[in-house]
Amino acid sequence: MIHLTIDGIPVEVEKGTTILQAAKQAGITIPTLCYIEDLLPDGSCRMCVVEVTNNGRSKIDTACTLQVSEGDEVQTMSEKVIDSRKKTLDLLLSDHNVHCFSCEANGDCKLQDLCFEYGLEETSYEGEMTSLPKDESNKFFSYDPSLCILCHRCVNTCTEIVGRAAIDTMERGFQSVIGAAPEKVWAEGTCESCGNCVQACPTGALSMKRRKKYRAYQVDKVVRTTCPHCATGCQMDLIVKDGKIVDVKGADGPSNRGLLCVKGRSGSFDFVDHKTRIRHPLIKNKETGEFEQATWDEALDLVASKFSEIKTNYGGDALAGFACSRSTNEDIYMLQKMVRAAFGSNNTDNCARV
Ligand code: FES
Repeated sequence: MIHLTIDGIPVEVEKGTTILQAAKQAGITIPTLCYIEDLLPDGSCRMCVVEVTNNGRSKIDTACTLQVSEGDEVQTMSEKVIDSRKKTLDLLLSDHNVHCFSCEANGDCKLQDLCFEYGLEETSYEGEMTSLPKDESNKFFSYDPSLCILCHRCVNTCTEIVGRAAIDTMERGFQSVIGAAPEKVWAEGTCESCGNCVQACPTGALSMKRRKKYRAYQVDKVVRTTCPHCATGCQMDLIVKDGKIVDVKGADGPSNRGLLCVKGRSGSFDFVDHKTRIRHPLIKNKETGEFEQATWDEALDLVASKFSEIKTNYGGDALAGFACSRSTNEDIYMLQKMVRAAFGSNNTDNCARV
C-alpha cells in the first residue's frame, strides 16, 4: 500500500493507483475533461493538474496519468494549480467559438462550467480561430469543429468502448479535426450512428440534431427505463419536457454501462407521441376492406374464436406462439402458458437472439 496526503487528508491506496483515483477515494473532486473512467488515460486536456511535493521537490502533473508514490503531498487547489488550469482553459477558449447563446449544449457543457468556476469569460489570446465547416452529413447528429476541444473522448469511446474505431483525429496542429477519414464527411465512414461519441462529448461539438428542441434547464424530469428494442435490456434515461419525451441518454445498466445503439438512442421514443400511432384495436371490415376501430373485448373475442376454430379443425399443433424479445419475462411466460394450456401445443419460442 502507498501512503500520501491529498489536500492534507491522509490516504492509503494500492500501488499503481493514480492521483485522480486516490482523490476520488478520499472524496476530493479534481476537474477533468478528457478522462473516461475504466479507460487508459488520454492525458490530453491537462485540466486535472495537481501539485505534487515529494522529498522537497515539487511538480505540476496530470492527476489522471500520474501514479501515487510513497510520501506524496498532493495539492489539488494550490495557486500554481489554479493558474495552470486557467491557462489551459484560456488556450481551449482561444480556438473555441463562444456562441453559447445559440449552442445546443448551453447549460450542459463541461467547458462552460469550468470557465464559470475559474472565472474565464473570454480568451486573452489574439488571432483568428480555425474555421472548418460543420459536418451535418450524419442523419442524427452534427459535428462542429469550432466547438471541438480535441479531448478525444469521442474517439476513445468509439475505439476502446464501442469497438467501432470509426473516427480519429485528422490533420495536424490548428487544422486538427475529428473525422471519419481524411477529406470525407462523417456519413461516408464506417460510423453506425450509435451516438455514444455524442454522449461522451463535453461541449457542443458533437450534438444530437434533436437537441435543438430543448435546453437542459427546460427538462421536467428524467425517467429511467429499459430500451424497448431488443432483449439486451439496455438502461436508458428518457428526457421529458412539457410532458413529452424529447431525448434519450444511455444510463449505466448492467448490460450496457451507459452505451446505446442507434435504435435505442434514435429510434426508441418518437413513436410514443407519433400522430399515426395505433392507439386502439382495429378489425378489418370484410366488405369495405378497411380497418375499423374496435373495443379490446371485440378484438380479443375475435382472435380467441379464430384460434379455437383452427384448433377444432386441425388440432393444437396447427398453432404456435412466438414471443417478442421486447416483452418482459412475465409476458413471455404467459404466452407459452397460453400456447401449452389453451392451444395444447408445444410450438412456442422467443426471438431473444441478441
Ligand atoms: Fe487528465 Fe485530461 S483529465 S489530462
